[in-house]
Amino acid sequence: MDGFRRKAARRVEAMDGRNQINLHFLKPMRKVLFDNKVALITGSSRGIGSAIAKKFALSGADVIINYRKAGGTSQKQGETLCNEINEMGRKAFFIQADISKKDSVKALFNGTNEKYGRLDFLILNAAKAPFKPIEKLFERELRQLVETNYMGNIFCIQEALPLLEKSGGKVIFISSLGSRFYNESYPLGSMKAAMESVVRDCAESLKEKNISVNGICAGLVKTDSFKVLRQYMEEVNKIPDDMFVKPDEIADVVLFLCDEASRGMHGQTIVVDKGLSSRLYR
Ligand SMILES: NC(=O)c1ccc[n+]([C@@H]2O[C@H](COP(=O)([O-])OP(=O)(O)OC[C@H]3O[C@@H](n4cnc5c(N)ncnc54)[C@H](OP(=O)(O)O)[C@@H]3O)[C@@H](O)[C@H]2O)c1
Repeated sequence: MDGFRRKAARRVEAMDGRNQINLHFLKPMRKVLFDNKVALITGSSRGIGSAIAKKFALSGADVIINYRKAGGTSQKQGETLCNEINEMGRKAFFIQADISKKDSVKALFNGTNEKYGRLDFLILNAAKAPFKPIEKLFERELRQLVETNYMGNIFCIQEALPLLEKSGGKVIFISSLGSRFYNESYPLGSMKAAMESVVRDCAESLKEKNISVNGICAGLVKTDSFKVLRQYMEEVNKIPDDMFVKPDEIADVVLFLCDEASRGMHGQTIVVDKGLSSRLYR
């Protein structure tokens, strides 16, 4: 292990209990190195996005942390994450931007260009949706559902294009099992299904620009949004603990999809769910 990784390992060991990060990444047998690369992860102040940002930093990349709500807990969490990454010896900046708003997205990518002058990996992780049946959505909820979880991701790709084109970059979408299975209180599932079609379509339309696009369809992960989901879907409380995916297990697959090792993959969405979908629906 070189000096940087030894220092990062000590730092991450201290964080380990709080953040469910495992350290196998630091072992020399599996090297995915992104030195001098830049990753932007939408919605990375907390939850799965925050684990992805840490994994990128541990593998040598500099990162942009993004969140939606200024002045609250999310901003504090984003600041703390930035400090942790800076202490690891990598650069991190956090930029508040609501991806559902085109102007805000423009500012996010202008900010990225100003800070780093490049972008190699765009991870489309941010999501926000009410938990209620589709037919009960108020108009403003329906608009937020589509604007954040569909339009927001497209805005990000549009604004990131000039930077991704220069670097031959990679785009990874974070979907969920709701794209494939019905859950009465999860209208986000229909947006995730649309997202998985966008993965296929963008992979084809951006191939000539040397930009690769893939997705991850995640199982259940114990984050803040899961705490809300369990109030609306009692069945999830019966699911054994070992069927939950840890944030850093999703992050590992994101890094694989950004690594040369996955160069044969285009327009695919990989299921990372600890086998939950096979078990529930067999
Ligand atoms: N948790 C699960 O069980 C699970 C399962 C499968 C897939 N996923 C997917 O994984 C991704 C992350 O989920 P999570 O559970 O980690 O979420 P989370 O804990 O609820 O965190 C969501 C993050 O997204 C940000 N965000 C929300 N709306 C945004 C917007 N309009 N613009 C910019 N940022 C925005 C939030 O910022 P603020 O705090 O400022 O709002 C926060 O940083 C989502 O795409 C989710 O659908 C989650």
